[in-house]
This record gives sequence, structure tokens and C-alpha cells, in this order.
Amino acid sequence: MSNSRNNLVFIGFMGCGKTTLGKWISQNVSMTFYDSDEYIESKQNREIKEIFATEGEKYFRDLETETIKEMNEKFSNSVISVGGGLPLREENRALLKNLGIVIYLRATEDTLVHRLAYDTKRPLLAGSDIRIKVHDLMMQRANIYEDIAQIIVDTDDKTYEQIYNEIEDIILAKASTLLGGKK
Ligand code: S3P
Repeated sequence: MSNSRNNLVFIGFMGCGKTTLGKWISQNVSMTFYDSDEYIESKQNREIKEIFATEGEKYFRDLETETIKEMNEKFSNSVISVGGGLPLREENRALLKNLGIVIYLRATEDTLVHRLAYDTKRPLLAGSDIRIKVHDLMMQRANIYEDIAQIIVDTDDKTYEQIYNEIEDIILAKASTLLGGKK
């Protein structure tokens, strides 16, 4: 499948920095930034945790699929970050690949736990021990993120600039493969 849309698409676990890094990069390279969670919240006019609480997770996952389809129709030359659970549906994975160069921002469980310890926005982390939740979800997801990504960047202890430079170097080195869509 070829990613002809020239988008940079960030995937990864909650708290890995997709949104903040995506915004930073988009400002530095003058590209527009979109985030699937923000897209859903503005269309629904309510927060994700409210959607989960009133309609349930399946309803939210359907909104994610709708969103990634719309992004495929509308967006090019943009930086896009998607919610940590969006790549879990097979249907979404094909749409992600078609959307652009898929970049997995990988972080260790320790880093994620540290960043998410006081989070109140993410329904999947509410309640008991955050360390166990991050670990269990990571066990289900790590392979999926790694399989779908064309670029994997380890982000622990790196500045935005270092991460961006790394991504840029890989894209330049693998340009023809990446733009041709082969893994
Ligand atoms: C989720 C991640 C969240 C948000 C929702 C579910 C997940 O996005 O979509 O709370 O299943 O991992 P971030 O990855 O941006 O936190």
C-alpha cells in the first residue's frame, strides 16, 4: 500500500508524547497538526472520558474508525497523532498505513508510569494500580505497534529535537522505501 499523502503519523502508548511531539514538529516544519482524540472531542463536543462513561468503549472505538477514515479522505502534508488504542483494530491499521509514514514513539513502562501517574483524563487508567494497568496493556499492544510502524524511535530521555532529528535521518535514509510504502 502506498502512502501518497505525505503525512507523518504518530502512534504509541498513552503518555509516550505523540501529541506534544507532534505539535512541536508541526510548528518546526510548518505543517498542520491533527490529533484523533482532539478531532473526536471537538466533533462530539465532549471529552473522551465522558464518551467512555456514557456510551462505552465500543462506541468510542467506532468513532476512532470513523475518524481515521475521514483523515484518509481529507488530510495531506500534515502531522497526525492518534490515540494509543486506535491501531488495535485491524481495519484501522490498514487506514493508518495508507495515511502516511507510521512512526512508533516507544517508551519504557517505567517512563510511561512516571508520566501517567497523576493522569485523570484517560478512562483505561482509572482505578487501581497504574503500573499493572500499563504493563497489561503494553503486553497486548507492543507487538501491534512494532509491526505496523515503519519507523520506531526510542524516546526515553531524549529531547524533542533529538527525536525529530532521528526521525528525519531515518526518513532521508529510507526515503524511497518509505514513500513507496514497502516496509
Ligand atoms: C486510549 C488512549 C487515549 C484515548 C483514550 C484511549 C487507549 O489517547 O484515545 O483514552 O486505548 O490507549 P492517548 O494515547 O493520546 O492518551
